[in-house]
Amino acid sequence: MAGVRKKKVQGKKTASRRPGTSSAPDGRMAIYPGSFDPITKGHVDIIRRACNVFSQVTVAVAYNPNKDEAMFSPDERVQMIHDALPELKGRLIADSFTGLLVDYARRIDAGVLVRGLRAVSDFEYEFQMTMMNRHLCPDVETVFLMAGEQHFYTSSRLVKEVATFGGDVTNFVPPEVLDRFHKRLKNKR
Ligand code: PNS
Repeated sequence: MAGVRKKKVQGKKTASRRPGTSSAPDGRMAIYPGSFDPITKGHVDIIRRACNVFSQVTVAVAYNPNKDEAMFSPDERVQMIHDALPELKGRLIADSFTGLLVDYARRIDAGVLVRGLRAVSDFEYEFQMTMMNRHLCPDVETVFLMAGEQHFYTSSRLVKEVATFGGDVTNFVPPEVLDRFHKRLKNKR
């Protein structure tokens, strides 16, 4: 499938170049990591903003094979990201990884981590992650983008909870994700 890179970069040797210097044509390759279980309209907003700043963006779905309580498999999450953003084909890569984010960043030569900030309550968690990632890999810089205010209270966790109990989440997820919710929940009944 064009543009979808699924797990194939795992296990590759660490690149010898300085991270972020060569993968995109002008050298500005960013990763937007997250659980994306599932992708929300807030994530879509951040991805669009990231694509306005960086020449190539890899949206990286993190998963832990030993402890994944996710509703959707890594492959489903990757597919939903592509389905939600067809217009960014060519500039957007969706992938999944396990292990440390900074190791993955090195493997794909990305020099920038993008994270979205909503309310002030996100800050503490993001601050801790940024400092830890900087300690592990000083070459990789974290930058924050702010989602539009209509997305400030959207989170995958809340959306899943509401959808599971039959609530309407149309405003919060892309239509493709809504379809998957309906199918998943129908199969469970
Ligand atoms: O969408 P989330 O759950 O807020 O994203 C968190 C994520 C996936 C970015 C973070 O848990 C992560 O980077 N996981 C990979 C393992 C890792 O590197 N952990 C140390 C982070 S400082």
